[in-house]
Amino acid sequence: MAGPVAGFVYDNGILTCDGVALPDIAASAGTPVYVYSGALLAERYQAFEAPFAGVPHTLHYAIKANATLAILRRLRELGASADANSGGEIELALAAGFEPRAIVFTGVGKTRAELERAVALDLAAVNVESPGELSRIAALATAAGRTVRVAVRVNPDVDAGTHPHIATGSSATKFGMSIADARALVREMSARPAVRVVGLHVHIGSQITTPEPIARAVDLVTDLARSLMSEGVPLEHLDAGGGLGIAYRPDQTTLSPEAYAAAILPAIRRSGLRLLLEPGRWLIGPCGVLLTEVVDLKSQAGGERFVIVDAGMNDLIRPALYGAWHRIDAAHPRPGSPVRADVVGPVCETADTLGAQRDLPPLEVGDLLVVRDAGAYGAVMASNYNRRPLAAEVLVDRGHARLVRRRQTAADLRQWDE
Ligand code: LLP
Repeated sequence: MAGPVAGFVYDNGILTCDGVALPDIAASAGTPVYVYSGALLAERYQAFEAPFAGVPHTLHYAIKANATLAILRRLRELGASADANSGGEIELALAAGFEPRAIVFTGVGKTRAELERAVALDLAAVNVESPGELSRIAALATAAGRTVRVAVRVNPDVDAGTHPHIATGSSATKFGMSIADARALVREMSARPAVRVVGLHVHIGSQITTPEPIARAVDLVTDLARSLMSEGVPLEHLDAGGGLGIAYRPDQTTLSPEAYAAAILPAIRRSGLRLLLEPGRWLIGPCGVLLTEVVDLKSQAGGERFVIVDAGMNDLIRPALYGAWHRIDAAHPRPGSPVRADVVGPVCETADTLGAQRDLPPLEVGDLLVVRDAGAYGAVMASNYNRRPLAAEVLVDRGHARLVRRRQTAADLRQWDE
């Protein structure tokens, strides 16, 4: 017999996750709580990877999108490697059971301590962001008597067509180096035994919804790779970064993994190199919701109605930070005509609006709402602003809801204060 549908679906008028009713999860874990679908994550992992089956490739999940240990472990079991963006993410990947050679280390501004750790570990690659960083890596590797595998991050000066806060591929941003600088650096580095340039890296931004910028960036980097290889540089891989967008709005057009693969693969085949991918959002974004309880309802001047919930911008900052739109649904909608409302949190800022002007079913205090597509850049970007404890996290794994991150307590927060 087939199991329940993967992900978040209504069953008899109640929203469920992999067959588990969300009100039951709220009753046991409390709110606000992030709820993840293990079944949907498995489906999306396979759907993402399938179109790349014809070329040698490694999928390095971008930990920054969701760094909950249970999610990381699940992705490792599904076959993922890891992309870490800090020393903290490297340690977490190791704790989740990733081998050092399954980890790439990206990030502008790696500290000396982070680089020392990376040198000691023998990672798949350190993605270097500047000539100065590469010199520091070479010096540390020489001192440690080791050889470090590095990939040079290229900034191809391509506009990803996404929100300016998350566009990283134009020459005006702090990321990577120009094609000319990368070429000069790789040539120079070929003579340094402590560093082996094994790849080129490019990541032009996140939440990309059209193929052209991705194809253009990968084409440019492929041309550079081919020209360096013709000079005898023994490259092994091309890392195309992450960035594949998802549909936050029901009518939003995005790229399928097939269309994404079609944009990248012609160049990769031309290069003959192994393809590395660093997806984050596409894999985990739709697999998570933020489940929250209505704590107050009120009308304001002009008849505006506010639905005040127990999750705020400290739990999910995307609407406040990027003006991001997340679908909001009732977990157990009451019958009746919809009411237009602003869904707001308890934090002392007007920016603390999770969704403005939403048509929601009639609501009462104590009802549950879900903020959808919150699996990526949700819990990871949460803060303790207003001295609010970080929310609990629940993973529905093989049909069973499991608390994978317990809710912080006031005592947890107090322990770091002297
Ligand atoms: N690789 C690198 C080098 C990255 O900088 C990123 C994301 C990724 C991979 C993963 O990208 P994805 O597949 O998830 O698009 N907080 C923002 C998104 C920041 C993305 C940062 N870099 C948001 O909530 O929209």
